[in-house]
Amino acid sequence: MNTATEQTAIRSIRPKVLFQLIESRFPDQNVGFKVNIPSPDIGGMTLLESSVLVSLARLIDARSLFEFGTFMGATTLLLAENTPPDAQVVTLDLPDLSSSQLESDQSSVLTDGHANDAFLTRRFAAQGARCIRRAQASVQSKVQQVLEDSMKLDVVARGYENQFDFVFVDGGHAFSIVQQDTRNAYRMIKADAVVVWHDYRSTIHNEVTTFLDGHAVGRRIFHVANTMIAFELFGRFESLLDSFL
Ligand SMILES: C[S@@+](CC[C@H](N)C(=O)[O-])C[C@H]1O[C@@H](n2cnc3c(N)ncnc32)[C@H](O)[C@@H]1O
Repeated sequence: MNTATEQTAIRSIRPKVLFQLIESRFPDQNVGFKVNIPSPDIGGMTLLESSVLVSLARLIDARSLFEFGTFMGATTLLLAENTPPDAQVVTLDLPDLSSSQLESDQSSVLTDGHANDAFLTRRFAAQGARCIRRAQASVQSKVQQVLEDSMKLDVVARGYENQFDFVFVDGGHAFSIVQQDTRNAYRMIKADAVVVWHDYRSTIHNEVTTFLDGHAVGRRIFHVANTMIAFELFGRFESLLDSFL
């Protein structure tokens, strides 16, 4: 009997595939990256996920990056610290909302996607992107924070059309938000680019998985095993993985 996993159009690759690509791309270098100790808070990236994100950015030499969902800014910082000095990272999160819009059942924050999202948003509203605040000036200057509901994002008015090498979709996890952020991501990328999603196969945010499994039909979207990262390559990067498949 087929399992749901076997039915998806999303192909799973081992993280090693990306690391082998890094080896062959930079044969004379030890390729390292700067990462902070992961936050014990929910909503953070694992070390393996961080190394996958940085590998993707390095492989395509990303210099203009966009993140849906800033939260504490841990991944914003990761991307800013591991890209060339002239790279820019734009990161978007919600403007301050009234607390009534953020009510959630505390007991289900770790089991219910909507309660989890409300918790993350409430935490962002209360604390802001503390990782960005604490970063050194040279890193902060690479980051631009935008406070806007991604559902209202006007890609053209913001001047974001065809501007980014790397778009990371990690904002709201409701189906409609991931769908809208993905649509916008496609409008925002340059011809040669990568779109990355977080929370694919999350045990909490099922709607990300449902959206991506449906969306992936007829596309080449990859899931990196042992992570919640999925990605799609565009233009001259489309063939990057061909020798491993
Ligand atoms: C999982 S956290 C982001 C984590 C961050 N990318 C990281 O890796 O550290 C999701 C964030 O998306 C924000 N968010 C939720 N819905 C949003 C929306 N409609 N527009 C913009 N941001 C949204 C939340 O406020 C929250 O801070």
